[in-house]
Amino acid sequence: MLSEQLPKIWYGGDYNPEQWDEATLEEDMRMFKLAGIDVATINVFSWAKSQRDENTYDFAWLDRIMDRLAQENIRVCLATSTGAHPAWMAKKYPDVLRVDYHGRKRKFGGRHNSCPNSPTYRKYSVKLAAMLAERYKDHEMLSAWHISNEYGGYCYCDQCEQQFRVWLKERYGTIEKLNKAWNTAFWGHTFYEWDEIVVPNILSEEWDGNRTNFQGISLDYRRFQSDSLLECYRLEYEALKSVTPQIPITTNLMGTYPELDYFKWAKYMDVISWDNYPSMDTPFSFTSMSHDLMRGLKSGQPFMLMEQTPSQQNWQAYNALKRPGVMRLWSYQAVAHGADTVMFFQLRRSVGACEKYHGALIEHAGHEHTRVFRECAELGKELQGLGDKIVDSRSRNRAAIMFDWENRWAVELSSGPSVALKYVDEVHKYYDALYKNHIGTDMISVEEELSAYDLVIAPVMYMVKPGFAKKVEDFVARGGTFITTFFSGIVNENDLVTLGGYPGELRKVLGVWAEEIDALYPGQFNEMVMKKGMGSLQGCYPCGILCDIIHAETAEVLAEYGSDFYQGTPVLTRNKFGEGQAYYVASSPVSDFLESFLGHLCADMGIHAPLDAPVGVEVSERVKGDVSYLFVLNHNTDEAVIDAGDKPLIELLTGRKVCGKVTIAGRDVMILERVAKE
Ligand code: GLA
Ligand code: ZN
Repeated sequence: MLSEQLPKIWYGGDYNPEQWDEATLEEDMRMFKLAGIDVATINVFSWAKSQRDENTYDFAWLDRIMDRLAQENIRVCLATSTGAHPAWMAKKYPDVLRVDYHGRKRKFGGRHNSCPNSPTYRKYSVKLAAMLAERYKDHEMLSAWHISNEYGGYCYCDQCEQQFRVWLKERYGTIEKLNKAWNTAFWGHTFYEWDEIVVPNILSEEWDGNRTNFQGISLDYRRFQSDSLLECYRLEYEALKSVTPQIPITTNLMGTYPELDYFKWAKYMDVISWDNYPSMDTPFSFTSMSHDLMRGLKSGQPFMLMEQTPSQQNWQAYNALKRPGVMRLWSYQAVAHGADTVMFFQLRRSVGACEKYHGALIEHAGHEHTRVFRECAELGKELQGLGDKIVDSRSRNRAAIMFDWENRWAVELSSGPSVALKYVDEVHKYYDALYKNHIGTDMISVEEELSAYDLVIAPVMYMVKPGFAKKVEDFVARGGTFITTFFSGIVNENDLVTLGGYPGELRKVLGVWAEEIDALYPGQFNEMVMKKGMGSLQGCYPCGILCDIIHAETAEVLAEYGSDFYQGTPVLTRNKFGEGQAYYVASSPVSDFLESFLGHLCADMGIHAPLDAPVGVEVSERVKGDVSYLFVLNHNTDEAVIDAGDKPLIELLTGRKVCGKVTIAGRDVMILERVAKE
């Protein structure tokens, strides 16, 4: 979709010329060309500039920027500016201001600060989007719409409370059904009228952000706030779409950001875009998982890397510089996992306010003779050299990991069994094990069609939604391999326990039932003792966090607990079901175990790494027609040796032919082009 307009990996980023004078703009244009920039995201925070009061709009400044960019043939990703409301609006219409978790009405300040249910915000944000669409619909450089910015945060104001009741009425129909879904007989919470329901925050049911007396209301409030912000997005989307149906629309997401159900949002986005800000100690596999998750939001469609810093952030506690080569390496990591753009925040460092120490293509020195600029310009040239290769290519993975935001909310709102249980960490453990085996993985929603996969892993699938168990049964019966873990199959979509033994609806396919769940203290472990016949998986592996005490029904026991009063009871089981098999991992194992376990399982299933590479070298593949692009990313500071196979392959960044053992320098990247014969 992007490639129809410009068939290459788009290169550019956020640009805020409204903070600068004309002379600076001219310098920017000169330097953008030097750096190979071909797209600028503009107008992200310009609402106050374009609308000085209720009735006065002025877009002349924006016309000038758009036209100036056009002269340089730089495409525009045009934001709608609704990520921060103007001060005059907050003063005149306080309904745009949020009320926080502590019940305090906010004053003007910050950004991403509008109440999503504010009639004023909705009215003026949609009006602004519509005006921008009308004004620029025929502009030759208009290439993508960027609605608002990094939607997030919840509001607890009176208008949200009222809308919450409306939302609940739609969801439940009757107050009786709501009482049942929330199990309000507990602690005498029965509601008789809708207006008895209040928002769950520190003044009512919650504390510490994630602790609640009533999972039902807290879970629904997260759904409702995610939907409310989504509605703001959708209203702008409609306003833009009706005028410029051919221009792709996005909003920039944030990877594993907790507050919004991105799978639901993705249904209303033409293209996914996201902002990647790992810190120096973020595991490479976590970044790679985040990219895969963003790609998975639209079932594998290429996405936009909307933001990353060229060098450092300002908002982390310790904002380390990206070491030489790292910006390039991480840019290709995004591309390797499905990005068709490489974009920065920001193209020029601002002179004041909190982001003045945030990295930029053009730093405070103001010229091109900086390390960061040179690295960016080199990458710009490389991306130009790649031309239309890679763009629009897809991943073709046979392994998938399920991720679900509602499940995550429910797990993390759960009072007991353990505060140590972190959904994203458990998902990442499984992802990391496949990553270390260089097995490509799709991150998929629980709604995704499973027939393309041979292996589906659903870590901590605590909440089982209607139809999910049947879907897993069909997948396994047809020959698929399914893995789930402790604390799965426990509740339905309302967080009500499925009675009769855990893992509830998943019990049949797994062939086990869990009687009790033990929570281990930090530093406390049990062991998984492998039974005979587990090949090189022989031995003993520590496990912790939670230990489900299970009984094998139809499942075969592969490992038992090594200690405590449940020593000798199953901790790892496999159930043959139809043509396939379903594994239950009853505790959280150390990563060594998962790496070998999944390595063996994939080998048995014929799922192989695209090539052999040592630790710290990431391998990822994108495929277009009969051409496959193998990305080799050396995250190590030292050189490494990979095995490129017997047939000579072209390395796209250097043009040289490689085969057999190949040395890759520290933090270097190779893209090997493999054309399938026949
Ligand atoms: C986010 C925002 C940008 C900027 C960067 C800084 O991604 O979208 O406006 O604040 O963070 O890292
Ligand atoms: Zn509100």
